[in-house]
Amino acid sequence: MAYKNEWWKTGVIYQVYPRSFQDSNGDGIGDLPGIMQRLDYLQWLGVDAIWVSPCFPSPMVDFGYDISDHTDIDPIFGTLADMDALIEAVHARGIKIILDYVPAHTSDQHPWFIESRASRDNPKRDWYVWRDPAPDGGPPNNWLCRFDGETVWEWDEKTGQYYMHYFFKAQPDLNWHNPELRATMLNILRFWFDRGIDGLRVDACYRAIKDPLFRDNPPNHDWHDGMDPSLKMIEKYTKNLPAVHQFNRWVRAVADEYDERMLIGELYLSTEQVVTHYGQNDEFHLPLNSGIFSTPWYAEAMHGLVDHYESSLPEGAWPNWVIGNHDKHRFATHVGKAQARVGMMLLLTLRGTPTLYYGDEIGMADVEIPLDEIQDPWEKSAPNLGLGRDPERTPMQWDSSPNASFCQAEVSPWMRLSDDYKQVNVASSRDKPYSMLSLTQAIIQLRRATAALSIGDYYSLYAPEGIFAYRRLQDDEHIIIALNFTPYPKTWILPVEMRGVSTILLSTLLDRQGEKLGESLDLRGDEGVILGRCS
Ligand code: GLC
Ligand code: CA
Repeated sequence: MAYKNEWWKTGVIYQVYPRSFQDSNGDGIGDLPGIMQRLDYLQWLGVDAIWVSPCFPSPMVDFGYDISDHTDIDPIFGTLADMDALIEAVHARGIKIILDYVPAHTSDQHPWFIESRASRDNPKRDWYVWRDPAPDGGPPNNWLCRFDGETVWEWDEKTGQYYMHYFFKAQPDLNWHNPELRATMLNILRFWFDRGIDGLRVDACYRAIKDPLFRDNPPNHDWHDGMDPSLKMIEKYTKNLPAVHQFNRWVRAVADEYDERMLIGELYLSTEQVVTHYGQNDEFHLPLNSGIFSTPWYAEAMHGLVDHYESSLPEGAWPNWVIGNHDKHRFATHVGKAQARVGMMLLLTLRGTPTLYYGDEIGMADVEIPLDEIQDPWEKSAPNLGLGRDPERTPMQWDSSPNASFCQAEVSPWMRLSDDYKQVNVASSRDKPYSMLSLTQAIIQLRRATAALSIGDYYSLYAPEGIFAYRRLQDDEHIIIALNFTPYPKTWILPVEMRGVSTILLSTLLDRQGEKLGESLDLRGDEGVILGRCS
């Protein structure tokens, strides 16, 4: 059923945050051999691809998003041989593997930057973004750093210029206008594709290109105290510049040198802006649709989002959806445990490629991290605004033994585990027929077995307040999904052609399979169902 060369259309992607998945060598930090030990689980769950967040050499100031060598593996995570073994092992199971590609910046410990800052005439000077001070000696313009809302410009005493860092000051920005830098960065894509990687998730891609005129950003008049300090300015000249599409085409052209490779672009933009990053099918295969993160969790809002996104997609573009990642608070915390099941059904039944964040399938929630254990540089730079990302990066909960078997009992994990791991974990959830994990696995199976769910068209349906209902249609296979976003029971009169011929294929509460319906569907509070037509 998969389209030729397009595994990523029918596949379910699973994001592994490598630090937190499985420790194999007793240092309390997850690693590549650890992922290897858990492949049986991922195969059982039924995912088609894993995306492993950065595992390259790094001082770990931003937990691997500050790369000091793009073509090796950090010893914390293992070796290049471990990565080769992982690639081979996932492929042997028919699973694809996606890595991160971080084009906008490197670590300040990267040999390129060490050279670049050595002198003004160093051949790599222009690989990074260096500027003279403003006439008053201050920073060249008013651009603000994403992490602390202070200037993006860091003064370099030795060479008398400022360098730009959109994220932490230990993450100097690269200058893609420089042809040598560009060629070198594009070769890194080839390095990983040659090693057998199936796709790359391109980090902060809409920030790869900076305004060549370095114009000031306009002030954001809606900003007030208590808001993310980096939002004081509207990011007119620091993100999503028109020239970024050229950058997209550069990376896409490299992917197209190979068969069946896929690029995801990390973008946090409006729907109208996101869809421009498909280009003429010459930019990203999947520009990240972060719509669910920014849409209030109620049926009408979600209905509006999905319809708007679907109708904005250019001809031939394939959609994608996500409810969790390493930068966002856990979905189960955001919408609550009961609605998290509805959200999982939504994610896995919308048209398009879903990405599941590790642990969401068992209902892991945010973990409160005490002040003296905070590790995320964002929380450290802009404290107490709820921006910190530690809560959603805690170790995977495998079973009820000490440290949830993420690491050995006597080892202390790099980040504390959730207190609830004795109840919420893979082993106990697998045994429970009604668990979140059983639900996730069952929807993935149904999706795989049902063409309408994996590749069918999407049409939204009229439904009473609080219910979001839609149809997936492939040839004459009709599937209906009805999701109750409220805690109250609701009744929905079925669309005409479904009356008297509908069966429940799956309920989020996993107890109504096979139930035949008459004219209407009674949904319990917080319940979602998938309906098929009986033949
Ligand atoms: C992306 C990553 C995030 C990181 C940032 C800087 O947004 O997802 O974790 O901090 O880029 O590289
Ligand atoms: Ca380890």
